[in-house]
Amino acid sequence: MTLQDRLEIADLFVDRGRRPVLRDIHLTLGSAEILSLLGANGAGKSTLVLAIGGLLPVRLGTMKLGDVSLVGAEPYEIRRHGVAIVHQGHPVLGGLTVRDNLRTAGLFLGKAEAERQVEAALAVLPELKPKLGIDASALSGGQKQMLCIAQALIIRPRFLLIDELSFGLAPAIVSRLGDVIRDVALNGVGVLLIEQFTSLALSLADRAMLLERGKVVFEGTAQELRDRPSILHGAYLAAADA
Ligand SMILES: Nc1ncnc2c1ncn2[C@@H]1O[C@H](COP(=O)(O)OP(=O)(O)O)[C@@H](O)[C@H]1O
Ligand SMILES: [Mg+2]
Repeated sequence: MTLQDRLEIADLFVDRGRRPVLRDIHLTLGSAEILSLLGANGAGKSTLVLAIGGLLPVRLGTMKLGDVSLVGAEPYEIRRHGVAIVHQGHPVLGGLTVRDNLRTAGLFLGKAEAERQVEAALAVLPELKPKLGIDASALSGGQKQMLCIAQALIIRPRFLLIDELSFGLAPAIVSRLGDVIRDVALNGVGVLLIEQFTSLALSLADRAMLLERGKVVFEGTAQELRDRPSILHGAYLAAADA
């Protein structure tokens, strides 16, 4: 693996409003691996995704793709560097068809390449094919999440950050999405997976990180967390007490 194939974050501090939220985050994501980011509500998971995506300012620290610094870059630049995000709550562009949502995601690729990548994304998520002509806001939650994943894949990302893969979705869909994510990683994409169902997260992931009130309190293999559930329970209970 070359350095270019790593997303590296070090000494990262991010505030929201004036309040410090993320404190001293270190994270490395390699190609073809799934890193699960766990933590109770309010731990700072979405804040981390938004900061990596250029949607929240970084107070201190580094975020690099190989030699390229992402700190201060605009969201579209970060996307061009190959970092795609599936945001929490599977937001889609209502008033546009599913096909136009997909095309919009590929705007900077040029028309012919965008069409090719739309077709490639539809091959990964063929469930969307019969829905191409309808308004994206009419999709079910699971279909919206599929659309968001397809939009992310259209840029042929090197890294895919997924904020809440299964939140609010039916179990059958969740299991299907899990298979999709596994395949995406097998094809070389590094995946940062935020997931409420820790059993699903740990079954998919190679490594796991646990955030508690903006700090990393555990980092290790997914297997370690499966073997020592008390670590997880500790973090979730500590958050409930706070
Ligand atoms: N829009 C916002 N403005 C100010 N603070 C926020 C905002 N959204 C979240 N926060 C705060 O940031 C912290 C982390 O939130 P978040 O990153 O959404 O956590 P998670 O995704 O782990 O549930 C929380 O304490 C929350 O209150
Ligand atoms: Mg969140």
